[in-house]
Amino acid sequence: MPNQPTDTATGLLRTEHQLILAVANSLSAKLAAEGAGIALDYDDLARYITFFRLFADACHHGKEEDMLFPGLEAQGMPHDVGPIAVMLAEHDQGRSLVRMMAEALDDARSGDPQASGDLRAGAVGFVDLIVAHIGKEDHVLFNMADEMIVGPDCRDLCARYDETCGRRYDGQTKEELERLAEEILGRT
Ligand SMILES: [Fe+2]
Repeated sequence: MPNQPTDTATGLLRTEHQLILAVANSLSAKLAAEGAGIALDYDDLARYITFFRLFADACHHGKEEDMLFPGLEAQGMPHDVGPIAVMLAEHDQGRSLVRMMAEALDDARSGDPQASGDLRAGAVGFVDLIVAHIGKEDHVLFNMADEMIVGPDCRDLCARYDETCGRRYDGQTKEELERLAEEILGRT
């Protein structure tokens, strides 16, 4: 039987990465189209901001920071230096970039060129950051985690991931945020 997303310490998180990457890549394509003269749709950008804030950060990074990273620390990986410290710093950078987008959105919609520049810079910066960040997790840190967190510790971690399934993120369930991604990707 093929591995299920919850068979390993990182399976569910790797699955979430694929959705985040698909949404980030679709934003990248729209930014490239804007560079070619096609105007950005601000309602569309608001959906990206909501997805990045609630799914990528609150739901996904929340599980990494509250569950996976402490699990690695319990196995001896340091918190303040090395891969965990780098990932935490990148999560903070991502939050700043998404906040920059959110704060610029209304003024950009009103035609403020400075806000439009900030919105674009935040979006480009976030896409570049998150694609590289996920690459580091998928190919380095998560491979280490799959070696370090096994057996009962792995089952406990996956059970804790499952517990988050009933959570709401700013009032929205994980399933609603996944549907938002499908809408963004034009799959609905
Ligand atoms: Fe991640």
